Amino acid sequence: EKGGYDYFMLKEIAEQPKAVADTLLGRIDAGGSLRLDEVRIGASELREVDKVVIVACGTAFHAGLIAKYAIEHWTRIPCEVELASEFRYRDPIMDQQTLVVAISQSGETMDTLMALRHAREQGARVLAICNTNGSTIPRESDAVLYTHAGPEVAVASTKAFLTQLVACYLVALYLGQVRGTKWGDEIRAVIRDLSQISGAVERVLETMEPVRELARSLAAKNTVLFLGRHVGYPVALEGALKLKELAYMHAEGFAAGELKHGPIALIEDDLPVVVVVPSPRGRSVLHDKIVSNIQEIRARGARTIVIAEEGDEAVVPYADHLIRIPATPTLLQPLVATVPLQVFACELATARGNEVDQPRNLAKSVTVE
Ligand code: F6R
Repeated sequence: EKGGYDYFMLKEIAEQPKAVADTLLGRIDAGGSLRLDEVRIGASELREVDKVVIVACGTAFHAGLIAKYAIEHWTRIPCEVELASEFRYRDPIMDQQTLVVAISQSGETMDTLMALRHAREQGARVLAICNTNGSTIPRESDAVLYTHAGPEVAVASTKAFLTQLVACYLVALYLGQVRGTKWGDEIRAVIRDLSQISGAVERVLETMEPVRELARSLAAKNTVLFLGRHVGYPVALEGALKLKELAYMHAEGFAAGELKHGPIALIEDDLPVVVVVPSPRGRSVLHDKIVSNIQEIRARGARTIVIAEEGDEAVVPYADHLIRIPATPTLLQPLVATVPLQVFACELATARGNEVDQPRNLAKSVTVE
């Protein structure tokens, strides 16, 4: 059942190229446009949406944080992302023109379910992004876009996360497509890139041995920090979450620009800091700023573990360890940048003698509030 792998998590990490491809299957037509008729919210209603609110927990929340960048960029609709457990307690503002997107692998997470019930009571329309057919969250939503990751058994979410990202990009691009924005050409180009992305995930998986080796060498450490910017920031949060739940290590993700506002005081000699570097081609200002962040922390003794695009030479002098990922459009980078962080956490858990598929104190589906 583990298909020759020692753990379900390893099997599920390896299944990611297929999970990503399956989630795109049948949703891009021959002309390169998106077909999401299954969502069953009419184009006219989607044109009236004036706010998107994403609710989710844990890893699914990180997918939502990434979705915000895509939705706001391609559609110009304001998007909020909120932890489902916080959402209804602050009396959020919603009406019929609000589209609430509830993201959940299991479809049974109580916090997310309560948030979407609250949203529907306020008159908002709810779209679920879910991996489990017929589960409670899609049943109680107005519409659903299923992720096709297949069953995820390991408690730590991996392939479900990547497919949640794909589904979020599909929603963002589709909203852009039906509403028409100035990014029409970019949207068509990104749909093309998305249809190739499974191959890029595959290539990342083929180059993970040095990441495993690095993880084993850090097994005795107590703390690892993760830095990112733009969509790399939620990737950093996800890397830190994976490490907490699997390796039981103190791990924190920061927005790299926040470093100077406090967290830089944490940097000490030989502290491992993982940095997710944005593409030097896309938003190059961000790239240059993060390169100076890497310089700053390294000057203070950090051991820098740099995740950067192939061909990005600017990071080389400041990287103690360099992990290469294929070049992708800026907004799609999380699909490739997350993978080394999953492998890193899984290998550290193994090296520390932890139970990979069943981390202590955790359950696969959290059905209590
Ligand atoms: C982390 C993890 C959890 C879940 C969260 C939401 O690896 O698995 O953080 O992502 O409990 O679960 P779902 O997506 O089932 O609502």
